[in-house]
Amino acid sequence: MTDQTYIPLSTPSLCGNEWEYVKECLDTEWVSTAGKYVGLFEQKIAEYTGARHAVATVNGTSALQISLQLSGVNPEDEVIVPTLTFISPVHAILYCQSIPVFMDSDKYFNLDIEKTIQFINEETVFDQGVTKNKTTGRRIAAVIPVHIFGNAVWLEELNTICSERNIAIVEDACEALGTFYNSGRYEDRHAGTVGRLGNLSFNGNKIITTGGGGMILTNDASLAEKAAYLTTQSKDDAVHYIHNEIGYNFRLPNILAAIGVAQLEQLPEYLKARKTIYKYYADSINIIPGLHIVSTPEYAQNNHWISVVQIDPKIYGTGREELMLRLKTEGIETRPIWHLNHLQKHLKSYQSYKIDKALDLVDNCLCLPSSSNLTNDNLKHIKECLSGD
Ligand SMILES: Cc1ncc(COP(=O)(O)O)c(C=O)c1O
Repeated sequence: MTDQTYIPLSTPSLCGNEWEYVKECLDTEWVSTAGKYVGLFEQKIAEYTGARHAVATVNGTSALQISLQLSGVNPEDEVIVPTLTFISPVHAILYCQSIPVFMDSDKYFNLDIEKTIQFINEETVFDQGVTKNKTTGRRIAAVIPVHIFGNAVWLEELNTICSERNIAIVEDACEALGTFYNSGRYEDRHAGTVGRLGNLSFNGNKIITTGGGGMILTNDASLAEKAAYLTTQSKDDAVHYIHNEIGYNFRLPNILAAIGVAQLEQLPEYLKARKTIYKYYADSINIIPGLHIVSTPEYAQNNHWISVVQIDPKIYGTGREELMLRLKTEGIETRPIWHLNHLQKHLKSYQSYKIDKALDLVDNCLCLPSSSNLTNDNLKHIKECLSGD
C-alpha cells in the first residue's frame, strides 16, 4: 500500500480560485476578520441557500452555540437532540449550560420525528406558554434536528408542534450544504433555512471547506445582527471598547473566507461528483448479498456528503469491525457511525427517550469514502474489496 493508493473517507478538493483569493488576502494584508471576503462569503452563502442572512463563524460548533443562545436557550433549559450525531450539537447545548434530552433516529439516521412528537405530547406539559418536561420540571426550550450525512430531516409536523409549544428549532445543517426539499411544505427550501436559525460547517471533511469555519443562517434581520454582535465580542462602541454583555471571538478570518468563496464556486461540481459516487455504490454494492447502501430521503435533493453501507453480518459473513479492518489493509479508510451520545461517559446521566433504532444503525453501518475527487479506479477498487473479487 502506498500513499497514492490510500483512499480517505472525505477530503477537500482545492482546485479552483483558492490560491488566487488567498494570495489577494496576503498581498493586501487583509488576513484577519476585516476584509472583503467575509462579507462576500456570507452574501454568496445566503444567495445559494436562500437564507436572507448569513453570519460567518470560526466553526460550526460556535454557530450552534450562538444559535441556541439567540433562540432563548438559557442555563437549566432542556434541548432535544438526537443521540446519533457527531457530538458538536450536544456540546453546544452544554456550553449554554443547558441540558440535552436524547432522542432516537429514523431510517435515514435523522431525529425520529414521531418519537419526538410523542415525547412532547406525552412527557411534557404546556403551561402559560412554556413546555415543561414532566420528569424534570425543566423548560424544553429547543430541538436540534441534525441533517445527518446530508439527509434532510422531515420537519413539517415537528415545526407545527414546536410553534404551538413555544419550542425553538435550531437546524444543524453542518453536513448538509446543498441539500434541499423537493416536495411538501418546504419544497425548494435548503436544509438549515426552515427553522428560525440554521447552521453550516466548513470543516475539512465537509462538502466545501475553509479549513475550519461555520455559518449561521436566518431570515430574521434582528437575529442576524445580534449574531454578528455576539460573534465579535459584543462591541457596543468599537472605538472606545464598550461592551455591554459577554461576547465571543467567533468571527471567521478573511483569509479563510477567501477559501470559502473559491470553494462555493465549485459546489455544483462537488454535488454532481458525490451523487455519482452514491449511485455507483448503490448500483454495484446493493447486488452483493448482505450489503445495502442506505437510501436517502425521496422528499429531498441530497448532497450525498457521505454514503453509508449497511451490513447484515449473517448473510455477508463479516461484521462491521472486521470489514473496516480488512478495507484498511487495502488502503481504504472507512468509519463506523459515531458512538451514540447518550452512552458517552460524560453524557450518560442525561435523559434519553426510547432509544432502540439508533443502536441497530450504529452496530451495522460503515461510512464509505465519498470525497468529491474520488477516481473511477478508486471506486472500482472499493467495490472489488467489498465484493471479495
Ligand atoms: C452534525 C455536525 N454538527 C456540527 C458539526 C460541527 O462543525 P465544526 O467541526 O465546524 O465545529 C459537525 C462537524 O464537524 C457535524 O458533523
